[in-house]
Order: sequence, then structure tokens, then C-alpha cells
Amino acid sequence: MDGNLIQALPGPHNLDNYEKVYKNFDFASVEKEFSWFETGRINIAYEALDRNVTEKGLADKTALYYTNGPRVEEYTFGQLKKLSDKFANVLKKFGVKKGDRVGMFLPRSPELYISFLGILKIGAIVVPLFEAFMEEALKDRLGDCEAVAVVTSPDLKSRLPLQHLPALKHVFVVDNERGGNVSATEIDWHQEMQAAPDTEAMVWVDRETPMLVMYASGADGKAKGVIHVHNGMVGHYITGKWVHDLQPDDVYWCTADPGWITGIVYGFLTPWMFGLPIVIKGGRFKAEDWCETLEKYGVTVWYSAPTAFRMIISGGDELLEKYDLSKLRHILSVGEPLTPEVMEWSMAKLGIPIYDTWWMSETGMNMICNYRCLPIKLGSIGKPFPGITAAIVDDDGNELPPNKIGNLALKAGWPSMLRGIWGSEEKYKEYFKFQPWFISGDSAYRDEDGYFFFQGRVDGVINTAGERVGPWEVENKLREHPAVKDAGVAGKPDALRGEIVKAYIVLNEGYEWNPDLSEELRNYVKKGLAAHAAPREFEVVPGIPKTKEGANDRKALKGWALGLK
Ligand code: WTA
Repeated sequence: MDGNLIQALPGPHNLDNYEKVYKNFDFASVEKEFSWFETGRINIAYEALDRNVTEKGLADKTALYYTNGPRVEEYTFGQLKKLSDKFANVLKKFGVKKGDRVGMFLPRSPELYISFLGILKIGAIVVPLFEAFMEEALKDRLGDCEAVAVVTSPDLKSRLPLQHLPALKHVFVVDNERGGNVSATEIDWHQEMQAAPDTEAMVWVDRETPMLVMYASGADGKAKGVIHVHNGMVGHYITGKWVHDLQPDDVYWCTADPGWITGIVYGFLTPWMFGLPIVIKGGRFKAEDWCETLEKYGVTVWYSAPTAFRMIISGGDELLEKYDLSKLRHILSVGEPLTPEVMEWSMAKLGIPIYDTWWMSETGMNMICNYRCLPIKLGSIGKPFPGITAAIVDDDGNELPPNKIGNLALKAGWPSMLRGIWGSEEKYKEYFKFQPWFISGDSAYRDEDGYFFFQGRVDGVINTAGERVGPWEVENKLREHPAVKDAGVAGKPDALRGEIVKAYIVLNEGYEWNPDLSEELRNYVKKGLAAHAAPREFEVVPGIPKTKEGANDRKALKGWALGLK
């Protein structure tokens, strides 16, 4: 280690000279990697799954290792192809077609991945729903995009507010025997799968056909339905090659939930484009179980988040000493700042660096990253991926010189970029108010060597344990409670989770603050929206700071959360 610099790893790597490639690269050169370059037949499900069977001779190779307590299973590419064809045929039978939105509301399980691929195969659009979502979060998302079907489980289905979702015609329930009554809209997933043929079900689409509506929280208003198209695969593939450095013998584990963008793009689509087995672990995070999983499957490339690393670090040396993690070639990190202590831990205890990757739901692929062939500056998110121009701009869209903090911006036009916001041209345009820049909502600076340093969100969006929480949604929920007159929510720095959700509350007359009320409000948000959005800290205040327009003043609230009140 040289001061704050971690030297580049000696090759061979898929990307061996960042600067040279950066100068000459054009995304169009990646297109020849796909079978559609020759055939003209496009579908991301073909490139991620079927092609392994039909062209690459990998039908019998393991594609998915699943482990969740007593449930331990393995699926080959051949099996997954057939099963997803079956589900695609089930969808066709019920009249679900190209362009229809289908919610995916399941815990991590093989059925989730099978269904996901089945939906993509028929050209329909997946709407991922994190399993912690409760009624209101589901109503907002499924209602906004008028989903016609949802795939869910017995435990989760009761949260679906069917009376508020008039467009929703079919509820496919996995494992329904545990759930009892099948209502008029409910369909038994297993029964249909048994009866369905596994004949080819692929529907060919255009590169610009939508495949995903990923709801992402903004600072104000409800979550926005970020639209991604099949062409995104160009960015997935080439970042898999150059950032994740995927090699034919790798075993890949991305711990992100497929309810979020990372768990989709890098959870399975990208590693499968390389014919690699992925590991999926169901259930909750437990440091010990995670180390055991890394060892058991001989994971070579691990994509996770600083909160998880910190939880493993807190298990101490005793934890690490129990497991053989020597198969790990490298680790990648996403979602929240990778602090130098975490990197130092990895270097000291595992002997390998952690490559930070910066991106967001809207960008659809890794954008600013560290690479094996490039020295790492501790605390830096790295340099823009080849083909990507990143800059720091001021609040009028003018580029700033090195070492000045400003808005992290990206030049629009990369293959995986969002193509729209469902139902709102206006919200889509907000990202592009300074042409040609896409404004990320993050603040950062760039040093004189071209390394970027993440500083935080500029807009009040909260990032707790790598999960994105919209303050407006939480405030809105809190205001529905009879004790709450007004509420303001902001991210408060936290050693373990990066940030926690902190709520400032103005009480209605006749209410007094006490620990029970704090617990009640926390549960109220948990039950209405989602557990990860529930405030961990409350403070009663006489009033919430407002802007001229009367909205909550995000900057002032952030100041409070930073202790500047
Ligand atoms: C944050 C997740 C620090 C950032 C892929 C961004 C990060 C938001 C990093 C997007 C990183 C992402 N270091 N912060 N390496 N990567 N973020 O949409 O604030 O769930 O805007 O996508 O996470 O979150 P999202």
C-alpha cells in the first residue's frame, strides 16, 4: 500500500489498460457479442438464459445454487430454460402479453427467477417489489403502472390491496397449499406449471422494448417508475466483463435483493450472460451464514454492500477464522460509501481489495468504478466506465474544475440508461434539465487525476444500509397518524447503516410524547410502507422548516439531522 493508494492487481484481467480503452471505446463495438447481431432476434432472456443452452453447450452446467435453511437446491441452465418457458406459456394462457406489467412480489427463491425470466420471454415488463413492501407501497407501484398480474407467495399476498388495483386480473401464488383459500383472482403457480408445456415461448422484441419498471424513491412525491429496455444488456455485459472481470470458472454471488436494481442486473442477468453459476441465499442477513455460504459454494466474485461488510467485521477475527474464503478473487461494493476502514479490513484479513462501483436505478449499469488494472484511491468511487463521460456541474449546469464539490452528472446516451418514467414525461425531463447532462441527485468532486469522490445526496433521498428511502413517502404516512400534525424526515449519519431514517414530529393537540408513541409510529410506517423505511429515531419539534412554496425544506431538515439545529 502506498499511502492512500492501493496498487493495481497484476493481470491478466479482461480490462488491462483503462486509460487506453477509455480513449477508444464505443458501446457499438459490444453488439457483436450478442446473437442478435447476426440473427436480428432480440430478447434479454435469450442472451441471459436460453443461449447458454442453445448455443454455448451449457445445458448441464449449474446456473443457480439456492440455499435457505433446509431448502437447498441446484438448477442447471437447461432446467431453468424449460421452467421459464413453462411459466411464459402459463402467462400466455392467461392472456398476459407483450408490454403488460407484471409485479414480482416474492422472497428470494428459485420461483422468483423462473417467473422473472418467463415474464421477460413473452416481452412483458417486470415490476420488482421488495418483499418488505406493505399495502401502501404496493398500491402506489402496482397502481401507477396498472399491472395486470402479480407473482407472489402465501405470506405476502394478503398485503396486496386488491380493491385499489382495478387493473390487476391475475395473482399467481407460489406454494399456495400453505396459504389456504384461492380467491377468484388467484392462480396456483405450481398447478399451472405442472400442466404447462415447456415448448419454446420466446417472443422477439426490439432493442428499445421495455423490460423493467423499477420504482425508485425520489426526494419529493411517490416513487418513480424507472423504465429500462432490453438494449440495457449491452451495458450489463460489458460491465460484467470489465468491472466484475467475470471469467469462465467463476462462481458469482450478488447479495442484493432482486426487488432492487442491483439484485436484477448483477444478481442474475449479467453473470448468466457469461454462463456462470450464481448463488442465491434466502432469508435474513446473518454474518455467520454469509461466510458459510461463501465457503460452501466456493464463491470467487462477491458483490455486496458496506453495511454487510461492517456486520461481518463486527463478528471479529473469530468469525473469519472459522471459514475458508480463499476462493474469493475479488469483492465489489455498491449502494453506500465504502469507507477506508472497510477496505483496510479486506486488505488485511482477506488479502484482496474491494472494488467500489457507483451507479443507480436510473443508470441501469455500473457507471463510475474501480477496476483491477487501476490503482485505487481510498475513499474514491473510481473513474467513469469506458464510454461514459462524467462531470461535476454547478446548479446551473456549468462544469466545475477539479476538487470542487457539485452535482455528479453523466452525459446522456449510454445503452442501459433509463428511457422514461412511467406515466410522467415531466419527471423524466427533470433528470435532463441541463442538456446534455443527466443529473444524478448525488454530490461529488473529481480530483486532478480524474478520480471521483462521492459526497452524499443533494436532494434529501435517504440511503439506509444501501436502501433508498423517499422522505416524502415516510412523512406522508406519518401525517396520517392521529397524533401527528406535521412531519419532516431526513437521513442521520450512522456508523453501521451509513444513514438512519430520522423523523421530526409536530404533535397534534392532546398528544404527549412517550416511548410507546414512538414505537407506535415506527410500527405504523413499517406496516403501511416497509420496514426499511420506518424511522429509527424521532424528535418532537414545534414546527417543520418549509420552503417558500410550503413544502418541507430538505436542506434545512438535512442540516438538523447532521446536528446543525
Ligand atoms: C447511492 C443502487 C456511495 C447513491 C445501485 C445513488 C452510492 C443511490 C454508491 C442509488 C457508492 C450507489 N458509493 N453511494 N458506490 N452506489 N450509491 O437507485 O446515493 O438503489 O444515488 O441504486 O445509492 O440507489 P439505487
